[in-house]
Amino acid sequence: MDFSKSLTLWIVCLCLLKGSWTAQTISDPPNIDNGVSELCRIDEPHCRDGNTILSFEAIRSIHKQMDDDANGNVDVSETDGFLREDLNYNDPKAKHSSFHGDDQFITVEDLWNTWKSSEVYNWTTDEVAKWLNDYVELPQYQEGFSKMQFNGSVMPRLAVKNTTLTMSILKILDRSHVQKLQLKALDTVLFGAPPMNKHNHLKDFMLVVSIVIGIGGCWFAYIQNRYSKEHMKKMITDLDGLQRAEQSLIDLQKK
Ligand SMILES: *[C@@H]1O[C@H](CO)[C@@H](O)[C@H](O)[C@H]1NC(C)=O
Ligand SMILES: *[C@@H]1O[C@H](CO)[C@@H](O)[C@H](O)[C@H]1NC(C)=O
Ligand SMILES: *[C@@H]1O[C@H](CO)[C@@H](O)[C@H](O)[C@H]1NC(C)=O
Repeated sequence: MDFSKSLTLWIVCLCLLKGSWTAQTISDPPNIDNGVSELCRIDEPHCRDGNTILSFEAIRSIHKQMDDDANGNVDVSETDGFLREDLNYNDPKAKHSSFHGDDQFITVEDLWNTWKSSEVYNWTTDEVAKWLNDYVELPQYQEGFSKMQFNGSVMPRLAVKNTTLTMSILKILDRSHVQKLQLKALDTVLFGAPPMNKHNHLKDFMLVVSIVIGIGGCWFAYIQNRYSKEHMKKMITDLDGLQRAEQSLIDLQKK
């Protein structure tokens, strides 16, 4: 199970890497400017803020990865393909509705607005630390995160390939860790806060329940066994008594 999980992760990562590489090589310098003016059109109050610009660039890059036919909109079939191939969800219908709603198409603006209304966007640095620990399961990079004061708004930047950020700033040298972080950040950006603790609680609960059932079963079997033994003993003594009574009856008849 562990093996198939890591294999899946690898395949997904390769797809993402391919996507972000092409996205970077095709359009770098003219795109930045484009992005800022687009951000100013969509979100005027925040378009001078460096952090917001970086997050917006990341959202644009995610949108580009999803927009297979590059027509500027991500339609339902593209989301389907993205979910199936890139994130390996077997039943993408359930996830669709979370960002398609009634619309057939999503633009960069929709994606940005969806992201901004996500509770993750308002996460504090502590909540991001908890996410890194419980969901990504890479607590060893906590230091870099707290040094950078990364809060929830940084999530889209973690979801796209950026070696400056991962290698130089966060000091993540293991490529598989970089990819794991990228993948989980992408999931969190697109589908909101993951069920972190609930999952573990459910697991613990199931474990306790199965232990209780196991112990209960043994106890029941033991009690049953003891009861039937006692029952047998009683029956045998009863039989003995009956036999003795019969014997005395025969003796009496003989007399
Ligand atoms: C995030 O915080 C801002 C400012 O406090 C608030 O206006 C916004 O509604 C919050 N968003 C969510 C999804 O909680
Ligand atoms: C998150 O961090 C950015 C940059 O450090 C800051 O502008 C923003 O206000 C912070 N958001 C919250 C919810 O604290
Ligand atoms: C990568 O991250 C660094 C640091 O956050 C940032 O300065 C740079 O603009 C990012 N590069 C891209 C292509 O987004």
